[in-house]
Amino acid sequence: MFSLSSVTHVGLTAIGTAIALKATYDFTSLLYFHFLSPPTYTRFLYGKAPYALITGASDGIGKAVAKELYSKGFNIIIHGRNLEKLEKVREEIQSTSNKRDVRIWVADASAPEIDFVDALREWKDIEITLVIHNVGAAQLTNASIDGIPTETLLRDLRLNATFPYLLTRALLPGLRKTSRSGPVELIFIGSVASDLPIPGLNPYGPSKAFMRQMSKTIGAEECAIHKESDVSTMFLQVAEVSSGSHRSAVTLFGPSAETYAKSVVSKVGCGRSVVVPYVWHAMQIWFMGLLPERLLAKSAADAAVGEHKRMAKEA
Ligand SMILES: NC(=O)c1ccc[n+]([C@@H]2O[C@H](COP(=O)([O-])OP(=O)(O)OC[C@H]3O[C@@H](n4cnc5c(N)ncnc54)[C@H](OP(=O)(O)O)[C@@H]3O)[C@@H](O)[C@H]2O)c1
Repeated sequence: MFSLSSVTHVGLTAIGTAIALKATYDFTSLLYFHFLSPPTYTRFLYGKAPYALITGASDGIGKAVAKELYSKGFNIIIHGRNLEKLEKVREEIQSTSNKRDVRIWVADASAPEIDFVDALREWKDIEITLVIHNVGAAQLTNASIDGIPTETLLRDLRLNATFPYLLTRALLPGLRKTSRSGPVELIFIGSVASDLPIPGLNPYGPSKAFMRQMSKTIGAEECAIHKESDVSTMFLQVAEVSSGSHRSAVTLFGPSAETYAKSVVSKVGCGRSVVVPYVWHAMQIWFMGLLPERLLAKSAADAAVGEHKRMAKEA
């Protein structure tokens, strides 16, 4: 006869083995994805003059992705709120080679009203094959939701969530055109804050969670409702990157915007709906997945408090 303790032992061993196998499988497929899959962005380089639209491209990750896409053969539309800064970026990009077009779109992404119709009119004769929804900003504070003025909350929600949502809605009918000879991809630059509850990061974290679901739902609608559509979506999980507004030291786990942009471009068109494009972030997130949720939430909260103290000292 089996004793209760030996049955429990066998059960626990089986569960432990299953968890270890799953973690090993995930880690192996992470390595395969990052080191062995070929780049797929060339699927979007078709037609006479393919364009990539990059929002928030006057600095940081957006600017670096714009430069990388231009160097790979795309014409680009760079968006931002500061015309002078965007003109400098255009000059910098075209100083490497001026074979392709660099257009500028100025719009404050946090404004209550944005004239998308006007922007679309400007682009009616060009073929946009990639959209990088990059614009966004986080402001870590020591206030909880009830300590933030309504106008600040709404402004940040517009910047991080409503702007990419409404821009996508305005663009989609044109992107679905059957006259196209290839696919289109919409890429949403998210954040690990879409998953991790980080105190003092309201409404940024919730906006990025909205963005992740926006990306998945829009992708699902294109498959289910618009059978003729060849538009796909992809949400990127971003951890620390040294950028225009986030001037952290460049490390293995916190790369420069330029290094990061190369990873982003290499994963364009890979066919997954949620991607961690930078391999060292992928390892970090894989490891975080092994930890109990409460421990993870506590370390995120401790890190936020530490960062807040550092900012207060510097101010
Ligand atoms: N860096 C990180 O560690 C990190 C981590 C997770 C997620 N992300 C995400 O990555 C994306 C890029 O971040 P980043 O660190 O590269 O930021 P960044 O260096 O501050 O660049 C942000 C870009 O967005 C533009 N922008 C900001 N507010 C705008 C507005 N109201 N209207 C129009 N343009 C506006 C900025 O324009 P100006 O040049 O005029 O300021 C700039 O071009 C964001 O979506 C962010 O949430 C970043």
